[in-house]
Amino acid sequence: MFQHKSSKLLRSIRFKVTALMLSAMIAVLTIFYMGIQLRIGGRTGLIEMLLTGVLAVCIVMIIVLLYVLVKKVIIPIGDLSKAMEKMAEGDIGYQFNVDAESEIGQMQKNFNVLSRKLLSTYNLIEKINRGQSFDDTFEYVFKSFKEFIPYNRIGMALIDEKGEEIRAEIARSDSSNIRLSNGYAIPVKQTSLMSVLETGQPRIINDLKAYLKQYPHSESTKLIVEEGVRSNLTLPLKVNDKCIGIIFFSSHRKNSYNHSHVNFLSRLADHLAVSFEKSILVEDLVLAAITGFANLAESRDNDTGKHIERMRDYSVVIARHLSLNPKYADIVTREYIRKIYNFSPLHDIGKVGIRDDILLKPGKLLPEEFEIMKEHTLIGAKTLKKAEKTLKNKSRSLFKTGIEIALYHHEKYNGTGYPSGLAGDDIPLSARIVSVADVFDALTSKRPYKEPFLLEQSFKVIADERNKSFDPDVVDAFLQGKDEIMEIYESLSGQRGRAVGS
Ligand code: C2E
Ligand code: SIN
Ligand code: SIN
Ligand code: FE
Repeated sequence: MFQHKSSKLLRSIRFKVTALMLSAMIAVLTIFYMGIQLRIGGRTGLIEMLLTGVLAVCIVMIIVLLYVLVKKVIIPIGDLSKAMEKMAEGDIGYQFNVDAESEIGQMQKNFNVLSRKLLSTYNLIEKINRGQSFDDTFEYVFKSFKEFIPYNRIGMALIDEKGEEIRAEIARSDSSNIRLSNGYAIPVKQTSLMSVLETGQPRIINDLKAYLKQYPHSESTKLIVEEGVRSNLTLPLKVNDKCIGIIFFSSHRKNSYNHSHVNFLSRLADHLAVSFEKSILVEDLVLAAITGFANLAESRDNDTGKHIERMRDYSVVIARHLSLNPKYADIVTREYIRKIYNFSPLHDIGKVGIRDDILLKPGKLLPEEFEIMKEHTLIGAKTLKKAEKTLKNKSRSLFKTGIEIALYHHEKYNGTGYPSGLAGDDIPLSARIVSVADVFDALTSKRPYKEPFLLEQSFKVIADERNKSFDPDVVDAFLQGKDEIMEIYESLSGQRGRAVGS
């Protein structure tokens, strides 16, 4: 398309220059001929008048053509070249006022598109370098490159450690009806993605409906076709040359993709992979280490070791139900839930600093012993702050949520908790969520100092503490998720020890 337009432009300029040169030649010949005629002193009259006429026409043509060339071609090309200079100096994103009548209007338009594309790419890289969260980066990509590339949906799926299962990680679409998203997992073998994974080569399917007829078993294809997707371009997602997943650019129209899209989309995929690595893989690695440590700490006063898993699952159920409440929809995002998932297990990490004779005391703590016990919140926050510092990643607070949770999970909604006596919304939401999950699990579990409560009794304690110990909205979300809470309780009941009376 670009080539076609520019050759039209070239033809038009060539035509004008040729016309200009022809007029000039005729004018020179005319003058020359008139000169000879005058020198010979021959005939005058009609022929001379005719020649003068031709000369005048030629001169007028030369002036007009010169004017057109300067105004429509030479000046705009000069402007374009100045704009390119500006761009080279770093003013990317510079935009022309496109002169539709100018010969090079199309060139100016192309320049503007190129310039916006460059600016979007530049901003993307900057955001990634600043350590913007992966979800925000993904959102930015989805919004910013539509103008340049046809897509209505971008989806990303990750391969598990063993390379056996592929799991949809995140998807963003123009249509609100996302059928294939977060958590959908299938064995790689049951997909046709093996070739993309093995060869690392992009794959284009320009008619997914036809493809589905050919491979009716492909459940993932079925789901995206139901979403309205008609063609897609699939690329491997690589971190340090290792394929960690797949990225799908999908369009609601058939035949949207060809190989001219591959280069740019591969680059976008690489940027997304970097962002993913920076913000999720690193965090996961560090967290795995710290969570191992927290598990160890937990195992001292809690021999089942399942407390951490249940806590995490209860917290996530509460967060999911909160996210359905319009009041929290903007706060409790997917990213927020991921933070809750990652950091809720670390709430009691500070118990590593509590002496055995207090932590493991079989009976009730003395007031001064409880004062020491309370310090586990401060110790936990300090430990996580130290871990964050050693990561030397000053640009962002990797453990912010973790620190909040460790520090404030014993605050109470009415302000009677510790360590700071915060009340209401002054307590970070993450801590308000984890607090309910923590107490519910403490109630239903055996501790060195107590026997487990019955399930219904434990639910009742939580409900009774609504507006006292706990945020009413969080308690409501917890009770809305009662069925899921009970399922987690059952499935992770492990060696909890039998509830009193059951
Ligand atoms: P934990 O055992 O994980 O308990 C966490 C929280 O669950 C407690 O925070 C409390 O709010 C709630 N909880 C636990 N058991 C009960 C109960 O029987 N009834 C009610 N209503 N709530 C309960 P809290 O009180 O700030 O305690 C923090 C940590 O201090 C506890 O963590 C535990 O490790 C320790 N602790 C608290 N009381 C005692 C005690 O009497 N003896 C011993 N040895 N340790 C205690
Ligand atoms: C998958 O095939 O597992 C994921 C597809 C997508 O998210 O688009
Ligand atoms: C598959 O072949 O199973 C996945 C198709 C797709 O999502 O592109
Ligand atoms: Fe605690």
